[in-house]
Amino acid sequence: MKRDGFGSRFGALVAMAGSAVGLGNLWRFPYLVGENGGAAFIIVYIILCFLICLPIFISEFVIGRRSQKNAFAAFRDLSEGSAWRWVGLFTIIVPLIVLSYYSVIGGWSVDYLLKALTFSFTGGESQSAFSTMFTGFVSSTWGPLAAHTAFLLATTLIVVIGIKDGIEKFSKVMMPLLFLIVLVIAVYSLTLPGAKAGLEYLFSPDFSKLTGKSVASALGQAFFSLSLGFGTIMTYASYVSKKDNMMFQSTATAVSDLMFALIAGTAIMPAVFAFGINPQSGPGLVFETLPYVFGQMPAGGVIAILFFLALLVAALTSSISMLEVAVAYLVEEKKFSRVSACVVLFVLCWIVGAVCSLSFGPLSNIQIGGGNLFDFFDNLTSNILMTLGSLLTVIFVGWRLKKTDVYDEFTNGGTLSRNAKIFGVLWFLIRYIAPLAVLSIFISGLIA
Ligand code: PFF
Repeated sequence: MKRDGFGSRFGALVAMAGSAVGLGNLWRFPYLVGENGGAAFIIVYIILCFLICLPIFISEFVIGRRSQKNAFAAFRDLSEGSAWRWVGLFTIIVPLIVLSYYSVIGGWSVDYLLKALTFSFTGGESQSAFSTMFTGFVSSTWGPLAAHTAFLLATTLIVVIGIKDGIEKFSKVMMPLLFLIVLVIAVYSLTLPGAKAGLEYLFSPDFSKLTGKSVASALGQAFFSLSLGFGTIMTYASYVSKKDNMMFQSTATAVSDLMFALIAGTAIMPAVFAFGINPQSGPGLVFETLPYVFGQMPAGGVIAILFFLALLVAALTSSISMLEVAVAYLVEEKKFSRVSACVVLFVLCWIVGAVCSLSFGPLSNIQIGGGNLFDFFDNLTSNILMTLGSLLTVIFVGWRLKKTDVYDEFTNGGTLSRNAKIFGVLWFLIRYIAPLAVLSIFISGLIA
């Protein structure tokens, strides 16, 4: 049977950009920028994105498209059956853990979209009322579980349909819509009186705030945002046509991800500052601060609907990419049908996700390393496993694959002359700079 794949270059691009653009862009990037020196942090972030993350992205691309297989088989076949295949298995398991807790947050956005649709964020309440609303919701049992179920079900339904008809079609419609919504909110946000303070928070450069730790967070954020080290880019790349230019696809994904993060910052921070609030990061920003802000602003009801719709769509286009990694593995290696692979993985992720969801309420007494189970999974995957996955991937391409094979894949058999010209630089980055930089920033982040 012919392997499913993306039907067009645009389809492949929006799917990859869909994986990259997600909660990371909306709730972490704007805050990290503000906290770590504004434009100074953005400059570091851009350098890391293009000097270190892009070569890693391309490494994943090479592995996926060269093998045209799932992540496990890709590592196995390209290394002639060596122990590297266990790295492949590792990159299949990690996104499943991420998907489990990511879909809990996806569920929260489903719930908040419903709240927005019923105009629950009115201007009457104080800011703390929104914190109480949020903590009350996440620490309850059934509401978050139902929302988590709905989100994971939606993810599974898109993936079960397949690559071209499911993931690609969904991304083609949703990604332009997502950009449009966030752009509309950004323009609106900039018209609010007092918006300037938000722009200053985001963009005025303060190099004194840049520390070893902020460089480490910039790298961590770039990995998470570009979905690196998780097997997702590798798996999506395995569905990309041999005729497409991977340099173009990878750069375009990185640029869209960066643009989206900057637009998201411009949508969120000016509005937050216009109402004299100190920004938070993560769930607090999105589910406590923003609903309050929406309640205060003119036409806030509509903006709230648009925002939570955007949050949900951004989360969905990312979650489908995480699920596909393991689906491809089960279908191709373990001979599952696509439907049964999806059902099995749904059940698995539902259980782990349910435990994460309950860790805010009934299971909050279970603590690991000072945090609940949700924090544990989040920290483990985004701070450690993801970096490890990226490091092993780039070492695999730079030191295990043959240079001529990487060249052949990167230049489409020598036919892409521009790619051929830059290959020398790329090879140097993949072989030396990226692994050393990842290792040293990772270590300095640990001891900082
Ligand atoms: N890149 C996504 C975000 O910024 O929210 C998160 C993500 C997607 C992580 C896919 C991992 C992954 F495999």
